[in-house]
Amino acid sequence: MKGVILAGGLGSRMLPCTKITNKHLLAVYDRPMIYYPIQALVGAGIDDILIVTGGNFAGHFLQLLGNGKEFGLKELHYTYQEGEGGIADALRLAEDFADGGPLCVILGDNIVERSIEPAVAAYEQQQQGARILLKQVPDPQRFGCPVMADGRIIRIEEKPAVPATRYAVTGIYFYDALVFEFIGDLKPSERGELEISDVNNLYLERGLLEWSELDGWWTDAGTFTSLLHASNLIAKGGANLPGPSGR
Ligand code: DAU
Repeated sequence: MKGVILAGGLGSRMLPCTKITNKHLLAVYDRPMIYYPIQALVGAGIDDILIVTGGNFAGHFLQLLGNGKEFGLKELHYTYQEGEGGIADALRLAEDFADGGPLCVILGDNIVERSIEPAVAAYEQQQQGARILLKQVPDPQRFGCPVMADGRIIRIEEKPAVPATRYAVTGIYFYDALVFEFIGDLKPSERGELEISDVNNLYLERGLLEWSELDGWWTDAGTFTSLLHASNLIAKGGANLPGPSGR
């Protein structure tokens, strides 16, 4: 399975810091944010990785990561998203890289405590369709939220004012090649973006969306509050990641 890290967008929620570099290169405790999703993929045995970036500082990724040697990779692939048309718009750029095969997609500002290897194994068993990972959080209204009945997801709502459950849809997704057909059919949402929740709802309508609950803590780091929260979790000894420098 190949991996895709979505690190595009303009990081406008994190101005003025994102005036001088890409959001995903800001520090989360002792390393740049992008290290965590790379480590999550590599730690789950995924070593063929595409980074989708964008904005004015795409070159900073090359300076920092090069070919990913620090992570034990032979090479890293990069592509560039114009503007900030949404997560699904960024994912669209991975079509050639995917080459018809399955993908593990992770958002560049998502950080997990434990290995995602069990989810990778579950998706390998599943063989087709999509798989999302849910996590109970205190503030689900900030995320994609499932509406559930009898343990099955019946709909995903993007940032509902009143979430149906405490679950958030984390930014770790597994897709087959159908994802690119679905993205092609999407229309921009009210916030002008191609929404990943719309993609997941299309899989749901076809009965092709499975889910599991993520082990350990999970957080995004895409606002100043969540960035601080993430840094504190890691400083407390979290994120069971060996780290590029063997920390
Ligand atoms: O963190 C999980 C949540 O991420 C999900 O629960 C939501 O369903 C999903 O929509 C997303 O919500 P956010 O509003 O937090 O997404 P945000 O716009 O902050 O983008 C998250 C990452 O996605 C960002 O760090 C880089 C990537 N991205 C985003 C946009 C808008 C791109 O690569 N390109 C883009 O155009």
